[in-house]
Amino acid sequence: MLTNKKIIVTGCASGIGAETARLVKELGGTVIGIDRNETTENVDSFYKVDFGDKASIDALVQALPDGVDGLANIAGVPPTLDAETVVRVNLIGVKYFTLNMIDKLADGASIVNLASLAGLGWPNSVEQIKVAADLDFDQVAEFVASHDIDKEQARSYFFAKEALVVWTMQHRWTWRDRGIRVNAISPGAVETPILKDFLETLGKKADEARKVMDRAGTPKDIAPVVAFLLSDMTPWIRGVNIAVDGGQAANALCGMNGL
Ligand SMILES: NC(=O)c1ccc[n+]([C@@H]2O[C@H](COP(=O)([O-])OP(=O)(O)OC[C@H]3O[C@@H](n4cnc5c(N)ncnc54)[C@H](O)[C@@H]3O)[C@@H](O)[C@H]2O)c1
Repeated sequence: MLTNKKIIVTGCASGIGAETARLVKELGGTVIGIDRNETTENVDSFYKVDFGDKASIDALVQALPDGVDGLANIAGVPPTLDAETVVRVNLIGVKYFTLNMIDKLADGASIVNLASLAGLGWPNSVEQIKVAADLDFDQVAEFVASHDIDKEQARSYFFAKEALVVWTMQHRWTWRDRGIRVNAISPGAVETPILKDFLETLGKKADEARKVMDRAGTPKDIAPVVAFLLSDMTPWIRGVNIAVDGGQAANALCGMNGL
């Protein structure tokens, strides 16, 4: 499905990124792995970066090859970290890296952003999302403080994922002349090393969500959907956010709308 495709997988050292890298190779692709933690597993080449740091991303973009067929933006941090770091890594860094990679992408390339079920409530945050649209790295601290995003820890995570879903939709046609598309995937709770951090910050909300589930997700539930979006089978899927969550988004939407 991905034969001869050169795919960047960020967050390749753990969890969903590691499983995506493994699957991309199994499906015939070449993996350019990127993470802050070094790994040699499931990658053909590896680059170290801190997505919370602009200079680190600049150096990475310069070092990466041209002609990349797919960009899977999977690296991310949980809401147990400070709000500024969460917004820098999970939103500002993803956007900055992607925009600076466009010239290095091949025509017809596919970009996949790992958002989250936590981004489902974006329609209630549109004004905040608009204010943050053009934030640079050095403006994040002031933004999170002035918008109360640092008051409740998980809010930073919810906000970053809401804004990432919106950013994905907004770029539905930006690179259409080159056939480059961007989509998002929103997992529910997935068994990876950061799940315990989510449960710690989400407390009661997470307990309630888990009660309605038959089982937790695993990276193997998510990676095939990333691979599908990276493949040539999806050229007309653009700017969408696909829930891969065992039905949690549908359950929440039915509940919110009295269905
Ligand atoms: N696990 C879940 O329940 C869940 C649910 C919804 C969405 N997600 C999203 O899926 C993505 C992957 O999460 P995961 O569960 O596999 O977590 P994970 O911790 O297993 O993997 C995250 C990877 O990102 C890397 N990373 C973190 N910060 C980085 C930085 N500043 N620079 C470079 N690399 C960095 C880590 O080193 C790690 O290898 C994240 O974007 C997360 O928000 C996870």
